[in-house]
Amino acid sequence: MRLLNFGSMNVDHVYQVERFVRPGETISARRLDHFCGGKGLNQSVALARAGAETYHAGMLGKGGEMLEQMLRESGVKLEHLGVSAEMTGHAIIQVDPSGQNNIIIYGGSNQAVTPEYMDSVLSRFGPEDMVLTQNEISNISYLARRCGELGIPLVFNPSPITRGLLEEFPFEQVSLFLINEVEGQALTGETEPKAILDALLTRWPHARVVLTLGQRGVVYRDRAHTYSHGAYKVQAVDTTAAGDTFTGFFLASLARGEDIPRCLENASLASALAVSRPGAAPSIPTMAEVDAVRDALTASPAP
Ligand code: RIB
Repeated sequence: MRLLNFGSMNVDHVYQVERFVRPGETISARRLDHFCGGKGLNQSVALARAGAETYHAGMLGKGGEMLEQMLRESGVKLEHLGVSAEMTGHAIIQVDPSGQNNIIIYGGSNQAVTPEYMDSVLSRFGPEDMVLTQNEISNISYLARRCGELGIPLVFNPSPITRGLLEEFPFEQVSLFLINEVEGQALTGETEPKAILDALLTRWPHARVVLTLGQRGVVYRDRAHTYSHGAYKVQAVDTTAAGDTFTGFFLASLARGEDIPRCLENASLASALAVSRPGAAPSIPTMAEVDAVRDALTASPAP
């Protein structure tokens, strides 16, 4: 199975700060790094490092050379990558000493992805493949409708969640949701994990849902099954791209036919490793690194 990811690519400007800046305040950063990022790029890198046949689609803008190089070196196939005259997307990220972050994104070329471009890429794929997307590029509602018409399974990570997305996205086209609690709450109005999952499955009974719960682990639910997995405790350095790493490893494991408990285990181990390292894409491990820590780390009780 081939995985086609229509996703963003950002240059992340990462500032290490004592604490997050407050309104009207000026603070000095202790350190500045430039990393490859963007939810789309991170998820493609994670998919490829987890061993999936991964194709990245999206618009590379001016100044995006390091992003293309990162994708290529991670084993992502780039024959369908588009190029735009816009400036490439970027993110301003503050990271505090506990590893927490806050993020501002500027879309740039990520917002120049057109329906025509999507159609030309989709014409090379079919129902035996899988499309993945997030909410950082333009025209994802069009993409979802076209996947439905073409019979291509759509995996959706509705991140970052926005009012516009909630109002216009055709969620009924989604085969598999990968969401966190904030997104689950925005989609359903519920706050408890069980209520979020119940509401999602009532509304879209054909869908499968993976709900990540941070340090409490993760729950998978479909019409017939529920599985959960605890989180691995590591020293957090930078939580950026932990969710993207989870998404990539879960999907790659699923695509090669592993059962859901194993998919959850692989993805949880990979995101724990990503949290223990700085940066977005550079923090994402390979499958070999995940296998190497499998017996050394112990998960918390499943939620
Ligand atoms: O999910 C983390 C990513 O969100 C960062 O790499 C940043 O670019 C934003 O897209």
